[in-house]
Amino acid sequence: MPPDYGKMKKLHQWLPAEGCLTKNAQRSIIERRFFTLPAQLGYPQLRVRKKESMKLPELTIGSFTAKIPLIQGGMSIRVSTSALAVPVAECGGIGTIGGSGIPVAELQEDIRRAKEATKGIIAVNIMYAMKNFYNLVIGSIEAGVDMIITGAGFSRDIFRIGKEHKIPIISIVSSADFATLAEKFGAAAIIVEAAEAGGHLGTDKPLREIFPEVRKVVTKVPLIAAGGITDGFDMAEIMDKYGADGVQIASRFVLSEECSVSQEFKDVYLRAQKEDIINVQSPVGMTGRAIRTPFIERMERGEDIAVKECKYKCLKKCNYKYCISERLMASCQGDVDNGLVFSGANAYKMKEILPVQEIFRQFVRDAESVYKEEGK
Ligand SMILES: Cc1cc2nc3c(=O)[nH]c(=O)nc-3n(C[C@H](O)[C@H](O)[C@H](O)COP(=O)(O)O)c2cc1C
Repeated sequence: MPPDYGKMKKLHQWLPAEGCLTKNAQRSIIERRFFTLPAQLGYPQLRVRKKESMKLPELTIGSFTAKIPLIQGGMSIRVSTSALAVPVAECGGIGTIGGSGIPVAELQEDIRRAKEATKGIIAVNIMYAMKNFYNLVIGSIEAGVDMIITGAGFSRDIFRIGKEHKIPIISIVSSADFATLAEKFGAAAIIVEAAEAGGHLGTDKPLREIFPEVRKVVTKVPLIAAGGITDGFDMAEIMDKYGADGVQIASRFVLSEECSVSQEFKDVYLRAQKEDIINVQSPVGMTGRAIRTPFIERMERGEDIAVKECKYKCLKKCNYKYCISERLMASCQGDVDNGLVFSGANAYKMKEILPVQEIFRQFVRDAESVYKEEGK
């Protein structure tokens, strides 16, 4: 019988909240020793069986092995910089610098800073939609990045560049067709990004619907799940039951001490209710997921939010309805009323800013408490 992830998750969430069991009793449950909860607490029959603890597997991409199969999702325009990517890499995950929408020289400096600070794995995320995509890719390779993650469009050339420079290319896809193509062209790993993700979306299908479709067609390289994963129970479920080789997580890391966005940006996350997280139209021509801000309300009312002059010339295709670079930068710097705050659909579930190390500790603890490798 596969573990009941929902029940395990509720049990863990309930334990500290009630605060009515001794520390040892709590640990007994968490470590899956045989235990019966007292009847008066409303769980008369719930017994948690002791099972052999199963460690999460490592994630190998090309010649790199991450001890923890967790990629921190790239978040552009200075949301995920080396300040976040380094502690993630130090914890055994893959730390990703968001490479789109910043000058090549700035990106290179940040990659060098990260590579000097850690022996862990540092990736860069570059959106194909960027006008200077090629320069950002080559600049990142020159600066010594370990791997390149690319999404928001598809480029065959990138795989040739990867081969020439012996650098793994990881494709973000939102359909089985693109996954098939990416594997055929030589992707070193594939990330399936579902509708629950933050930022630009390539599908309206939720993770548990789209992942099995892609799992069927990807056979040679690691397949990673992204979108809406908020804790270790989700992580174990998607790896165990659905057969993912790892997960990519972004929103949880916005609410980390190390993420360099303004406190105002983090406060928008902390205040967000489920209904505040909505789809918006991006000038890229894709749907994006963001938290409602006064700027979005102005857009919804049909006010003129267009810029008179294009300052950044950042996108290959832009409909100029508003300047996405300017709006993302505004929120990053603290002007959330005039800014766009991208977030995943489940960001409202996270109510605490934690150090990256603690986020990892909780993810690994909770995932390993239920992980059984059922799906493999
Ligand atoms: C603030 C923010 C910015 C993002 N920027 C990018 C980006 O530049 N490129 C990209 O491929 N994905 C981007 N994403 C998507 C994430 O990398 C990730 O795949 C996704 O958000 C995972 O879902 P989660 O946030 O629910 O964990 C962004 C997400 C957020 C929340």
